[in-house]
Amino acid sequence: MWPTLDHRGAVGKGVLDIPTAALSERVSLEAIAREVGTPCYVYSSAMIRAQYDQLKSAMGKLDVRLHYSVKANSSIAILALLRELGAGLDIVSGGELFRSLKAGYTGKDIVFSGVGKTEREMEEALRANVLLFNVESEQELHVLDAVAKRVGAKAPVALRVNPEVLVDTPHPYTRTGEKGMKFGIPFDEALSVGKVAASLPNLRLLGLDMHVGSQISQFAPYEVGLQRLLHLRREIERETKVRLEYLDIGGGLAVTYDASDRAVDVKQFGQVISALVGGAGLKIILEPGRFLVGNAGVLLTRVLYRKRSGGKEFIITDAGMTDLLRPSHYNAFHRIEAVNPTGRTTVADVVGPICESGDFLALDRQIDDAQPGDLLAVQSTGAYGFVMASNYNSRPRPAEVLVDGDKFAVITKRESYDDLVHNEIPPAWRSAQ
Ligand code: LLP
Repeated sequence: MWPTLDHRGAVGKGVLDIPTAALSERVSLEAIAREVGTPCYVYSSAMIRAQYDQLKSAMGKLDVRLHYSVKANSSIAILALLRELGAGLDIVSGGELFRSLKAGYTGKDIVFSGVGKTEREMEEALRANVLLFNVESEQELHVLDAVAKRVGAKAPVALRVNPEVLVDTPHPYTRTGEKGMKFGIPFDEALSVGKVAASLPNLRLLGLDMHVGSQISQFAPYEVGLQRLLHLRREIERETKVRLEYLDIGGGLAVTYDASDRAVDVKQFGQVISALVGGAGLKIILEPGRFLVGNAGVLLTRVLYRKRSGGKEFIITDAGMTDLLRPSHYNAFHRIEAVNPTGRTTVADVVGPICESGDFLALDRQIDDAQPGDLLAVQSTGAYGFVMASNYNSRPRPAEVLVDGDKFAVITKRESYDDLVHNEIPPAWRSAQ
C-alpha cells in the first residue's frame, strides 16, 4: 500500500500527493519491507502505464514512437512492461542493448545514442539490426562506416546535433544542449558532417536527433532546438539529395519532486511539437526516461538510529548515497514520508550509513519524527535511483520490487556478500604458493 493509504485503504494522515495512479495499487509497503527487507525500491505498474498513456495521447495524430530511455531504470521487468505498452527504447551501451534484447525487444525497436560508442558496441548493435545510431561526431561516423563494412551491413544513422539552446534545469549536470557541451555535433558543423555522412558508403543517413537536457519544464528549448533541426534538415536535404525521415527530439520532460513543483502540461507539449513538425512527413521519436518512471517508484528505508549533534537532529537510515545518489550528487530534493506517520514532526538531516559527510537523503528537512525501526518512503525515486546505485563501502545493492494491483514481485534480488566478490580473482602468483 502506498504511503497515502493506511492499511484499510483509507487516505492516510497528513500525507501527500503521491500520483493518483499509484493509488490503484493495493499492496502494503510495510508488508513488502517485512518480506523483502530494506533498503528496497518499489515500483507501481499502474503509474508507469498512466504516464506512458498520458504522453502518447498528448502527441495526438503525430507519427510518433516513445523510445523509453533505458538508463532511467533498466530493470528487465520494467522494460518488458513498457514493451507491452508499445514503447521502443533508447540505449547508450552494449549492456543496455543486452538487457533490451532480454526484455523481448528487437533491434528495430531500438535507437542507440551515446557520445562514446566503442567498436564492439557498434558491431553488437549492427548485428542486432538497430533502427538508428544517433551519431555524435564526425570521427564516430568514420568508425561506424568501417565497422559496418566489416560486418557487411549498412548502418542506419541519425546525426545527434547540439542545437545550442539555453536550458534551465535544476542542476548544470543535467544540461546537454548548450554550446560547448560534450554532447552532439556542434550546430555550425552539422551541415558539413551531414555531407560526410551522406557520402560514406556503409552508412545510410536517415535522420536528425537532439537531446537538450533532463528535468526540463519549459518548452522553449524544445521549440528553438526543433526549429534549428528543421532548418538543418532542409539544408542537408538540399545539399545531399538525401531524404531525412526521422526526427528524434530526445527526452528530458520533468516530473514533480516537491509538492510545489508544477507538473509539465504534456498536452501542451504535444501541441507545441505538433505545431512544429505536424505535416512535415517525419517519423518522430521521443526518448522519455524520467517522465515514464520517476514518480512511479519509492525507496523504502528503515530508521536505524536517532542522534543529536551540534544542535542538529539526525535520522540515520539504512539507505544512503550508495542506494540513492541524487541528493548527494545533484543536491536533488526527494520527499521523504513515514509509511506509518507518528503524527509528530521534527527538523532533521536524513543521513545514510556511508562513511562520507556527503552521504545524505535530505538536509534540514521538516519530517515525521520517525524513530528507530520506522519505515520511510523516499518518493519519486523510480528514475535514476537503483541504476546509479554502487557498492561503495562494500554495500550490496538493494532489491527492486514491482507492484501490479494486489500483486508484487521481487524483480531484482538484493545482492549478497558473495555477489560483492564474485568477480575477484586472487593473483596467480599468490594462488601458486
Ligand atoms: N536521451 C538521451 C540521449 C539522454 O542522454 C537522456 C538522459 C534521455 C534521453 C532521457 O532523459 P530523461 O527523459 O530521463 O530526462 N542522472 C540524472 C539524469 C541524467 C540524464 C542523462 N540523459 C538525474 O538523476 O537527474
